[in-house]
Amino acid sequence: MKFFVDTADTNDIADLAATGLLDGVTTNPSLIAKSGRDFLEVTREICGLVDGPVSAEVVALDHEGMMREAEILRKIADNVCIKVPLTIDGLKTCKKLTSDGTLVNVTLCFSANQALLAAKAGASFVSPFVGRHDDNGFDGMDLIRDIRLIYDNYAFETEILAASIRHPVHVLECARIGADVATMPPAVIRNLVKHVLTDKGIEGFMADWAKTGQSL
Ligand code: E4P
Repeated sequence: MKFFVDTADTNDIADLAATGLLDGVTTNPSLIAKSGRDFLEVTREICGLVDGPVSAEVVALDHEGMMREAEILRKIADNVCIKVPLTIDGLKTCKKLTSDGTLVNVTLCFSANQALLAAKAGASFVSPFVGRHDDNGFDGMDLIRDIRLIYDNYAFETEILAASIRHPVHVLECARIGADVATMPPAVIRNLVKHVLTDKGIEGFMADWAKTGQSL
């Protein structure tokens, strides 16, 4: 399972990339706004911090506008992945961009049928939004499960990029189902490592080691 971080904060990205556990980055217009930085400049910096795909989202809603913006974004670096919304224009743009080898992430996916369309459009990634699905009274994990089943039925190569992940249990469930990627806020990635018994174990070993009077 690949781990992407869902942020445009370059300090967090650099810190997590240094662990060697980070496989990519996703951003969206809200995260760019939160960073307070210039979109192209911050995207360029992020692309230099990780080797894997960096999703940068178009803001046009029509196909021609999306293509124009994608042209600007894909010149930033080889690892830019163009993020398009799950609309007819987004799917049309996805089909066109992927036909010449550009990475595309189809985002704002809330149904298995939408994910089927994204795969048929040749998407590199589809982003089902687990947390926002849960927020609205649906089961985000049912969505991931259905998409996994459909993609396996037809051997689609589109990767399931579980998005809008809110806590470690979401990550665990996605891993059980077989999502290809989870994109998580930095705090969720950091929380995955935590366990009270790990801390307690280290504390006990350190106390006993001190008693030996030895050093390494
Ligand atoms: C995905 O690529 C999106 O950027 C993201 O996961 C949305 O998450 P949110 O629902 O926490 O805003």
